[in-house]
Amino acid sequence: MKLIQMTKPSSFSTISTAKIIQMNDVWTSYDSKNYTLKGINLSIDRGTNYAIVGKSGSGKSTLLKLMNGMMTPSKGIVKVDYQTPDMNNKKFKIMMNKIGYIPQSLGLVKNITVLENVLVGALPRLGKIQSFFKMFPEEELEEAKKILKLVGLSDKEERKAYMLSGGEKRRVAIARAFMQKPTILLADEIVSELDHVTAREIMNLIADAQKRMNLTAIMVHHDMQLALEYANRVAVIKNGEKILEIGVEGDKIVDFQTGDLSTQEIMEMYPDESKK
Ligand SMILES: Nc1ncnc2c1ncn2[C@@H]1O[C@H](COP(=O)(O)OP(=O)(O)OP(=O)(O)O)[C@@H](O)[C@H]1O
Ligand SMILES: [Mg+2]
Repeated sequence: MKLIQMTKPSSFSTISTAKIIQMNDVWTSYDSKNYTLKGINLSIDRGTNYAIVGKSGSGKSTLLKLMNGMMTPSKGIVKVDYQTPDMNNKKFKIMMNKIGYIPQSLGLVKNITVLENVLVGALPRLGKIQSFFKMFPEEELEEAKKILKLVGLSDKEERKAYMLSGGEKRRVAIARAFMQKPTILLADEIVSELDHVTAREIMNLIADAQKRMNLTAIMVHHDMQLALEYANRVAVIKNGEKILEIGVEGDKIVDFQTGDLSTQEIMEMYPDESKK
């Protein structure tokens, strides 16, 4: 186990021993010829912040899609809260409502308002008729407004989503996910391309929600420095393989998996974005 000195992060979450995600020797493929993910092993503790970092095309989004049942492995085992993510598995289908997934594209409805986009997060818990006609009970409206206040968008409730800035769109996507009252948040590069300050504002929102709701946040990042600041564990994916997993313990970074590259080499691959 390698140890590297590191400043203690401000948002270090409590670690519980219960595993919320487990993967054992997982392989995936989009076609019959190539594997996208190759032999992934990982386990994620409930209530922690787990970051996935890697170059474009390395398989990060694919890894997230395995966790919400959008993809099934060609080989190996995936468990989400001890259930197999499979649409034929009734227990997983119920659980899916508690997985807040923010895709890389954010998935906002452009021509409806910010408030309406956030209310989409409440749809799974409404009855079929209420859901079809989008009849939201007063308490759901109040909840959506409360969450919009939390993410600092109270003044933009009635604005159409396409009129927002990049950072504001990300806040709406987070608010929609919070509206689901999730136990797991899967966020695919929601702070990439944002400036240093806005990225941290958004990460702080998620860190606060983690403390309040014992949320497990699994987040794909491009920025290794930011990942290390907020995550309990950072997995590095390269060409579909998990080549490294590092975690912050006290004021040190602990290397939990020896890969092809040293931790120092990995850090050099991901320069501090704030200094660019
Ligand atoms: N629907 C698809 N059909 C075929 N190949 C796909 C599909 N989605 C992704 N791939 C391929 O699988 C590989 C991994 O893609 P993935 O989207 O997981 O990468 P990523 O690490 O998220 O990249 P980025 O940082 O650019 O978002 C890439 O080579 C990509 O071209
Ligand atoms: Mg991706």
